[in-house]
Order: sequence, then structure tokens, then C-alpha cells
Amino acid sequence: GAASKGDYRHFMLKEIHEQPAVIAAALEGRLGEQSVLVESFGPEAEALFDRVRQIHIVACGTSYHAGMVARYWLERFAGVPVQVEVASEYRYRQVVVPEDTLFVTLSQSGETADTLAALRFARERGYLASLAICNVPGSSLVRESDLTLMTQAGPEIGVASTKAFTTQLTALMLLTLALGRVKGLDGGVQAELVAALRGLPGLVERVLRLDPQVEALSAAFAEKHHALFLGRGAHFPIALEGALKLKEISYIHAEAYPAGELKHGPLALVDSEMPVISVAPNDELLDKLKSNLQEVRARGGELFVFADEQVKLEEEEGIRVLRLPHVHEVLAPIVYTVPLQLLSYHVAVLKGTDVDQPRNLAKSVTVE
Ligand code: AGP
Repeated sequence: GAASKGDYRHFMLKEIHEQPAVIAAALEGRLGEQSVLVESFGPEAEALFDRVRQIHIVACGTSYHAGMVARYWLERFAGVPVQVEVASEYRYRQVVVPEDTLFVTLSQSGETADTLAALRFARERGYLASLAICNVPGSSLVRESDLTLMTQAGPEIGVASTKAFTTQLTALMLLTLALGRVKGLDGGVQAELVAALRGLPGLVERVLRLDPQVEALSAAFAEKHHALFLGRGAHFPIALEGALKLKEISYIHAEAYPAGELKHGPLALVDSEMPVISVAPNDELLDKLKSNLQEVRARGGELFVFADEQVKLEEEEGIRVLRLPHVHEVLAPIVYTVPLQLLSYHVAVLKGTDVDQPRNLAKSVTVE
């Protein structure tokens, strides 16, 4: 049943392992041969998307991180300027809303107080329309939005959000390609990304098989009090999400920075007691990231790198490399989330914390 752990020790682990199936569910019926079916967003979506000239994305926590990834995608493939903000800031600001702006909320529960209040605030401010990307049908957010896209992740019980996040990212890639299609994105690019999306569940399945290798890394964190996550581009929000997971369930203080910011301050913190985790798939920013990694190494920092199997990066003293199957560079943020989830899970298990019900936290924050 929905609330059973089955053979898994924790709901979080079960939910991590459900990701291939729920990502497939999030794609189901929404892909054409060569492009995304725009009508997945509702019968009026095509006409509305045609008018969209700006997007404002508002969410909290992990859902906010999904929005941050989407900004890279939407600006690149749909050519539409995007702002992303946490709901608790957005709702108390004198927001300026340019004409023809689409308001997008992201939420697993659809009941997060600040996100819901942000939607109600936005409805008074002359947006073109509101779109909710949400996991719970019939939730307040879904009922009060003009357009909705359900993430199809199924019930998520663990307080630490896992499958809700990767299905949100999947849904946001669908939004990117639907909007891109309406805005004239090259057909070849659409077809390539649709094909890559079709391969995504299988790829995530392969990454899950690396679990024993991720578990082997976790011992290096259990005794530490701090950790630093680095990423560039669309992997910066993935670094933020990796740090949030580690904080939530293992109570290890973790921070995330865009790798290029290292020299502007956080490098001062790096020593042998501060493990550094880097998300380094094979994209154009890899060379820059490599030089950041050398800086960490030169200060005695212990490095853990998650990298594409095609990347030339040797393991050496102080540098552990976990190789992931090759993935289309655009979809890498979804795939690289998975080992970070597993890492925080295993660290928490080693520390003996309450993985599914971390102290002080509630699954959904329905009061401000
Ligand atoms: C994620 O692991 C958190 N527990 C939390 O940040 C969560 O993502 C946030 O409260 C937003 O919830 P929602 O997606 O249900 O709106």
C-alpha cells in the first residue's frame, strides 16, 4: 500500500528507488514522437504559452532548488527571462510584474503555507496566468491555479524530499520543451531532448546500482561536522539540494557554493576536516571546475567528485571519484541528484538519526 515501506528499511530509501518508475510516470502520455505535447499543460496552454514573455517561479526548500535548475533550462531553450524566488521572500516584496508574465509555483504537497500565500498574492498582481507543478491532486495549490501539471511521484512519506524533486525536474523539462516548441525552438534540439528524456528512467536505474559504492563513501562523513558542496551552472542548485539533504537527515552542517565562488570566501574554511563534494558531469564548465578542485586539494581538503565516466579525472590521494554513466548534459542535474540522495541517506543511517522523521521538521509546512 501507499504507506508501506515494503522491503526497505526507510521510506526515504524506498522513495529514492522508486525514481525510475515515477520519472516514467511523469513522462507518460506527455511526449510525442519528436516533441513534448503542449496540451499536457491544459487545452489553453498553447495560446497562453505563445503570449508568455517572462516567468516568475516561486517555491520553498527542495522545490525552490528545482525552480533554480529550471531557470537555466527555460532561458536556454525557451529564450524567456526567468526569476526564481523563495515564497517567504516573494510574498512580502513589492514585486514588479512585467506584462505577460507567467507565475509558476512548485510544490510536492500543494499545501505549503508560504507558496500558497504567494499564489494568492500573485493573483492580485496582473500575471498572465498561474501554473502549479505539484504532486498532490486536489491540493489547494492545484485548485487555485489556472494551469496544472501533476508530477505523478505518488505519496512521498519521508520528510526529506527525493522522488518529488526529480519528478519536478522532469516536469520542468517538459515545460521547457513545451514553451520552447511554442517559441520556435529548433526541431532537432527538441527531438534530441525528447529522446534523452525517454532514456532517463533507465539511466536513473543504472545510477541506483551504484548504491554500494556511494555507501562506501559515506563513512568518510559520519564523523565530520561540516561539508561543502560545489557545482557550476545547473549543477549549482543540485549542490544546494545535496547540502540540504545532508543537513536535514544527518544534521551535518553543509553549505553549497557555485564552484567559481570558492576563492571569494569559502576556500578559507577548507581543511582536512571539511570534506568537499563536487558535482562534475561532462559539460563545458568541467575544465573550470577542475581548477577549483585543485585549489581544494592544495589546502588539504578531502574531495569527493561525482563525474561522468567519460571524464578524465584520476583518483589520487585525497580525491575519490565516483563515475556515473554518461548522460545527456542537459539532463545531468536530474541524474546527479540521485547519488547525493544516497550519500546523505547512508551518512544518516551511520549516524543513527531518524531518517524519515528528522528532528524539528514537518513533512509539509502549512503554517508560516
Ligand atoms: C525537502 O527535503 C524539505 N523537507 C522541504 O524543504 C520541502 O521541500 C519544502 O518544505 C517545500 O515543500 P513542498 O514541495 O511540499 O511545497
